Amino acid sequence: MFLYKQLDDPQQILPLATSAFALRPIEQGAADGWLASSVKHGCELYGVYEDDALLAGFMLYDFQMRLRSCVVPMGGIGLLCSRLDARGKGAVRFMIQNSLDTMMQKGQVVCVLDPFDETFYRHYGWEKFSRCQIIEISPNLLKVPERLGAGITATDLPFPDEASMSFYNQYAAEHYTLAQRTQREWESRTQILSWSTDTAARGVVKFFRNECVAGLMGYDLTRKDGEDRPTFHANLLACEDEAVFQEMLRYLRQLSHQVATLRICLPLDRELWPYLSDRPAKSTIRDLFMIRIVSLDLLDGLRMDAPDMSLGVDVVDEQAPWNHGVWDLTITSGVLRVQRGQRADLRCGIGALSSVVSGFSSFAQLIASRHIESLDTYQGQDLPKTVTFLADYF
Ligand SMILES: CC(C)(COP(=O)(O)OP(=O)(O)OC[C@H]1O[C@@H](n2cnc3c(N)ncnc32)[C@H](O)[C@@H]1OP(=O)(O)O)[C@@H](O)C(=O)NCCC(=O)NCCS
Repeated sequence: MFLYKQLDDPQQILPLATSAFALRPIEQGAADGWLASSVKHGCELYGVYEDDALLAGFMLYDFQMRLRSCVVPMGGIGLLCSRLDARGKGAVRFMIQNSLDTMMQKGQVVCVLDPFDETFYRHYGWEKFSRCQIIEISPNLLKVPERLGAGITATDLPFPDEASMSFYNQYAAEHYTLAQRTQREWESRTQILSWSTDTAARGVVKFFRNECVAGLMGYDLTRKDGEDRPTFHANLLACEDEAVFQEMLRYLRQLSHQVATLRICLPLDRELWPYLSDRPAKSTIRDLFMIRIVSLDLLDGLRMDAPDMSLGVDVVDEQAPWNHGVWDLTITSGVLRVQRGQRADLRCGIGALSSVVSGFSSFAQLIASRHIESLDTYQGQDLPKTVTFLADYF
C-alpha cells in the first residue's frame, strides 16, 4: 500500500538520487548542499512510501512562467527517481498522479519538466514544448557592423545586480516562455558546483545604455583538461533591441584572442547568420522541456494573441480526472475562456492539448499526424503557433 506525502527530511532522497543518477562521491557532497539550498529557497520534496521505506521522490519547483501573453504559476518537476529495488512496482506512476493534485492545489496552471525519455512522460500526459538552437563558432566568424549612435557599455558581473535582475524579469514577462528568476535561479545559474570540474567562471554581462540596463548575457567559461583555450557558453542573450544584440556580438568577438569556441544558445526565431562570415562549425536544434496542463479550469482567463474562435474538445486525461471530459474553449478579444461543455469538435489527450495551448504545435499539425482526432463538426479552428523557449533548467 503506497502513501504519497511531502518528505519529512530532505536527506531521505539522497540515497535514492545517488543510485538513480549514479552520483559519484565527488558529486554526492555537492548534491547534498544543493538539496539543502533548494529546500531553503522554497523547493519542496515529495515521495511515495511503502510502510516506512521511501520508494520514490521528486522535487517540485514553484516557477512563474510566461504562457502566451500571461505570466502564470508553473510547477517544475526535477530529481524524479525511484529506488533500484522498487522499479516497476508502480510507485512513480502513483507519485506522478498525486503530484498533479499537489500542483492543482497550489494553483499551478501547467507543469514543465526536462525528460530523460519523452515516451515515458508522454504516457502520463506531457508533450513536447520548448526548443532551442545551439550554434558553435570561432569568435572571428562574427561580422558586426560599425556602431551607430549612443554608446552601450558592457560590465562583467559574477552575480547580477538588482537592476539586471529586474531587467531580466521584465524581459521574461514579455518574451517567449521564459520563467521569472529569483535569487534562487540566479544562484543556480552562477554557482560553480564541485562536480563541474571544467567550469572556470560563470556570470552575466550587463549592457548599459542611457543609465539603464538594456541587455543581459548569461555565460559559463569552461576549459577541458588538456585544452589550451576555453569555450565561452552564452546561455542567455536578453536584449531590448537589435543595437544591443549587435553590442553583445561585438563583445563576443572581442574575446577572440583568448576563447577558441563560442557556444551560443538562442530561441529559434533569432537568426545569427546575417552576422557570420561563414557557416558555423556546428549548429544543432535541441528539444528540451515537455509541458502538461495541470488544470483546464486554471487556464480560464489566459490572455493570448489569437483571433476569436470557439471549439469543443473531448479531453482524455487518465491521471487528472478533473480535466477529463468535454470542454468549450473560446477566445474573445484575446482572452481564453475554458468551461465545461456538451459537444466536441475534437478529441485528444491532455498532452496534445498542452502542446497546442503552449504554442509549440497547432491543432492542424496534430490532426494531420493523428495525435488529435477531428470529429464531424470540426471546422478548422486553431490557435497560432509561437516560439517557445525556456532558458532555465531543473
Ligand atoms: C524512470 C524511473 C523514475 C521509473 O521508475 P519506476 O520505479 O520503474 O516507475 P514505475 O514502477 O511507477 O513505472 C512507471 C512506468 O514505467 C514502466 N516501466 C518501469 N520500468 C520499465 C522498464 N525497465 N522498461 C520499460 N518500462 C518500464 C512501468 O510499466 C510503468 O508504466 P505503466 O504506468 O504503463 O504501468 C526510474 O527508472 C529511475 O529512477 N530512473 C533513473 C533516474 C531518472 O532517469 N529519472 C528521470 C529524470 S527526468
